[in-house]
Amino acid sequence: MTPNLETIDTWVNPSLRGLAPKKAGPERNAQAIRLDKGELPYPPSPKVVDAIARAATTCNRYPGVLGGALRAQLATYAGTEPDQIVIGNGSDDLIELIIKVFVQPGQQVLLPVPTFFVYGQATQVMGGVPVFVQRTPDFGLDVEALVAKVTPATQVLYIANPNNPTANLVSRDTLEEVLNRVNAMVVVDECYFELCQTTISDWVDHYPHLIVLRSLSKSFGLAGLRIGYAIANAQVVDYLYRAAQLFPVNTVAIAAALAALEDQAYIQDNIHRILSDKLQLQEQLEGLGLQVYPSATNFLFVNTQPLNLPSAPLVAALQERNIWVADFGNTPGLGAYYFRIAVGTPAENQGFLQGLADALLSLS
Ligand SMILES: Cc1ncc(COP(=O)(O)O)c(C=O)c1O
Repeated sequence: MTPNLETIDTWVNPSLRGLAPKKAGPERNAQAIRLDKGELPYPPSPKVVDAIARAATTCNRYPGVLGGALRAQLATYAGTEPDQIVIGNGSDDLIELIIKVFVQPGQQVLLPVPTFFVYGQATQVMGGVPVFVQRTPDFGLDVEALVAKVTPATQVLYIANPNNPTANLVSRDTLEEVLNRVNAMVVVDECYFELCQTTISDWVDHYPHLIVLRSLSKSFGLAGLRIGYAIANAQVVDYLYRAAQLFPVNTVAIAAALAALEDQAYIQDNIHRILSDKLQLQEQLEGLGLQVYPSATNFLFVNTQPLNLPSAPLVAALQERNIWVADFGNTPGLGAYYFRIAVGTPAENQGFLQGLADALLSLS
C-alpha cells in the first residue's frame, strides 16, 4: 500500500504545521519600480561581471570546500582570522545554521521587535520558541526588558544593528551592556555595516558568546548570488561548520565575491550615491507630511500616522501604480501605520514620489 497525502501530513515535522505557506509573489516586470526588498539598485561592477563569466566555465567542478579562497579574503576584509569566519548562502542561511547548532525544540530565541522576520521564522522551523520583547518607542533596545526575559531556556538573542525594518542603530555601549548581562548566544546582525561603519566584530575574542553576521547582498550589490558570512570565536565557528553543508556557496558566487571585495572604489561610489539620495528622499517624504525615522541603512522607515492613513491601503494604491514598497502595518511590534522603502536610482525615487503623491490624492 502506498501512503496517501493524509498519512504524509502526519509525518511532517509538527513545528512546520503552524507556519504560513510561502508564496512566490508577482514576477517583476521591466516597468515596475521595486523598492520593497531593500536591494542596491545598481548592478555589480564590470570586474565582478568578468569574474562571473570566467567562473562559469569551471562549473563542472564543485566549489571550494567551506567557501574556499573566499574565507581568507573575507578574514582580511573584516580584520580577523580565517578560522573566525563562516560563509553561508546569504546571511539568511547563517541565521538558520545558528539556530540548528544552538536551539533544541522547545528552547527559546529572544527577539527585540520590530525586527527582521527571518529570525522568528527560522526559530519556528527548528521547533524553537520565539520570545518577543518590545523595543523602545524610538526602536532602541530596552536592555532591562530583554534581561528580564532571559530564562535557562534562552539560547540565542538576535539583534539586527542597524535594525530592519526600523533602520536605526544601537550604540556599541548598549551592545556591550547586553553582552555583559545576557547568558546566551548573542547574534549581532551587521547586514548594513558598510553603510553605517559601526561594528563590534573586534569583540569576538573577548566575548565567546558573540556572533556577528554580515552580508554581500546590500552594499556589495550581490543579493542575487546569496553570500553572507559570520565572524565568531574559532570554537564557535568550528561548531557552526559541523552543521553546515560542505559547499555552502557556489563557484560563481565565490568568484564574484572575491572580485567585489577587490573593487572597493566601485562599492564606495555606490554607497556615497545611496547615502546622498537617501537624505533627499527623506526630505521629500517629510514634505508630504510623513514621519521618517533616522536611517543608518539603504532604506527608510516611514510612519503614515501623521496623515491619519494606515499603511495597507497606501501600499496597495502604490502597487496599482506598479510601485512596490514593503508594508509593515500590523507586523510584530508595530501598529497599522508603517512601510519601508529602499533608496532606488534617482529616476526610481522620482517615479515613486510622483506615484505616492498621486496615491495620496486618490485616497483623500
Ligand atoms: C538585518 C538583515 N539580516 C539579514 C538579511 C538577509 O541578508 P542575505 O541577503 O545575506 O540573506 C537582511 C535582508 O534584508 C536583513 O535586513
